[in-house]
Amino acid sequence: IPVATAANPDVLHETTTIVFDVLRATSTIVTALASGYRRVYPVADAGTALVMAHKHGFVPAGERGGDKIAGFPHGNSPLEFIGGPNVGISNDAQKCNVLILTTTNGTKAIRWAESAYKVFTGSLLNARAVAQAVLREGLDVSLVCAGTGGRFSLEDTLGAGFVFMEIMKHLNGEDSSRLAAGMAVDDLPIAAYELARFYYHDPLSGLMAGRHGQRLLRRGLEDDLRWCAQLNRYDIAPVLSGEFITTGND
Ligand code: MLT
Repeated sequence: IPVATAANPDVLHETTTIVFDVLRATSTIVTALASGYRRVYPVADAGTALVMAHKHGFVPAGERGGDKIAGFPHGNSPLEFIGGPNVGISNDAQKCNVLILTTTNGTKAIRWAESAYKVFTGSLLNARAVAQAVLREGLDVSLVCAGTGGRFSLEDTLGAGFVFMEIMKHLNGEDSSRLAAGMAVDDLPIAAYELARFYYHDPLSGLMAGRHGQRLLRRGLEDDLRWCAQLNRYDIAPVLSGEFITTGND
């Protein structure tokens, strides 16, 4: 199963794709679905999110530049969703199970990848589960790192590295740099894998080392980083199905 991080849009539809926005969108999506939300609707535009939330009774959440969007009840902190959906907001518990999320980079990256054969949502929280899910598909894998403002970000590459490491453990019962090089289409997955090895015993330091991690720390959001740094906390592989991300278990 060849693995690439530089996803080529022309071949995306032939690959199983995993999108990473470890700080914090994909960690938030994984946390919300693991905590009782049935679906997450990722949208690029904040106005659309509010209109849809109003129309359908979905729970709106989102950030711009890391801050909660004015008029939104929720921002993009995974800690806001640990308690599961607040069905008290509306009488319709079904609709309140749906989170509509718009973020600066993460939800855009998910939308960008939607032509892929399947789009999974990856994070440190579910690295093993998502690796197992893509292995079941048996196709080539594209690792899509959302980055920040179109720029490389350490934490997304670290997330991709942990998933790549889990894929290799599964295939061979071991992880070795030689195997990583054999599977990678280019050197980016190898770099991601080596990064995951470096931070394996202390993923939090990896999340703290990057520019976006530092920005969140300056805003007093260390607990968000601590949450997002938990490796394999959840056993779910959220997948985009039409407009919505679900656990894939319904
Ligand atoms: C994003 O989508 O850009 C991020 O999730 C930003 C954040 O809220 O940390």
